[in-house]
Amino acid sequence: MGTADAPVILVTGASRGIGKAICELLATQGAQLVMAARDGEALQVLATELSAHGAPEPMVAVIDLADADAVAGLFKQVFNRFGRLDGLVNNAGVLHEGLLGMIRAEDIDRVLAINVKAPLMAMQYAARLMSRTQRGSIVNLVSIMGVNGAAGLSLYAASKAALVGATRSAAKELAAKGIRVNAVSPGFIDTDMTRAMPEAAHARRVASIGMGRAGTPREVAELVAFLLGGQSTYVTGQVIGIDGQMVV
Ligand SMILES: NC(=O)c1ccc[n+]([C@@H]2O[C@H](COP(=O)([O-])OP(=O)(O)OC[C@H]3O[C@@H](n4cnc5c(N)ncnc54)[C@H](OP(=O)(O)O)[C@@H]3O)[C@@H](O)[C@H]2O)c1
Repeated sequence: MGTADAPVILVTGASRGIGKAICELLATQGAQLVMAARDGEALQVLATELSAHGAPEPMVAVIDLADADAVAGLFKQVFNRFGRLDGLVNNAGVLHEGLLGMIRAEDIDRVLAINVKAPLMAMQYAARLMSRTQRGSIVNLVSIMGVNGAAGLSLYAASKAALVGATRSAAKELAAKGIRVNAVSPGFIDTDMTRAMPEAAHARRVASIGMGRAGTPREVAELVAFLLGGQSTYVTGQVIGIDGQMVV
C-alpha cells in the first residue's frame, strides 16, 4: 500500500498502554497514524520507532484533551495535512478511584472532560471529516466498570457508561453515512492504569478473572484493529467486551 492510500487513523492516548499497542499494531498494517497525548517525548520516541520499521511517518500531536479548543485544532491539522480521516480511536482516559463521599466537584469536571467531553467532540469532528468520503470507523474505549460498577469507581464508571450511550447514539446517527461506531470494553489490562493500584486490590481483581491473568494491551489492540478494518464492515453500535471472563 502506498503512503497516499494508507488509512489515516487518529489514536488518542498513544503515548503508552493500550493506545501505544494500538499504534504499534496499526503501523504494521501500514496505517498513516496521528498519535495524540500530552507526553510529547514518548510520542516522538514511538513515532521514530514505527517509521524505522517502515510505517508511514506518524503525525505527533502533543495535546491535553481536557482543552476543548486544542481538540478542535487537532482535527483542523489532520484535515490540512491529509484531507481525510478513516479511523478514530478514542482511547485516552483517566481512572478515578474514590468512594462516593470522597469525590470532589473538580474531580468530576476533570474526569468527564477527558473521558466524555473529549471523545464526544472528537466524534463530532471525525464524523464531519468521514462524511466527505462516506466511510469511516470510530472505536471508543469504555470499561466493563461502566456497566457493572465497582465500589470506589462511581465517577469512572459514570464516565464510561456515558461513552457507551454516546457510542450507540452516534452509531444510529452515522450508519446512513457509512460511518461505524463501536466500543471496546476491557476488563483488567496490564498497563500503568492498573499497575498504579494498591497490591492487594490488584491481586483481588486478577483473582476475579476466570482466565487467571490480566489481559495484554496487544490483545485489546487486536480487537480495535478488527473494528477499524475491512473485516468488520457490517459491525456497528456494538460494545464488545474483552475481559478473560471477568464478567460472564
Ligand atoms: N487498563 C485497563 O485495565 C482498562 C480497563 C478498562 C478500560 N480501560 C480504558 O482503556 C483506555 C486506555 O487505558 P490504559 O490502561 O492504556 O491507560 P494508561 O496506561 O493510563 O494510558 C492512558 C493514556 O491516555 C492519555 N491521556 C490521559 N489523560 C490525557 C489528557 N488529558 N490528554 C491527552 N491524553 C491523555 C495518556 O497520555 P499522556 O499521559 O501522555 O497524556 C496515556 O497515553 C482508557 O480509556 C481506559 O479507561 C483500561
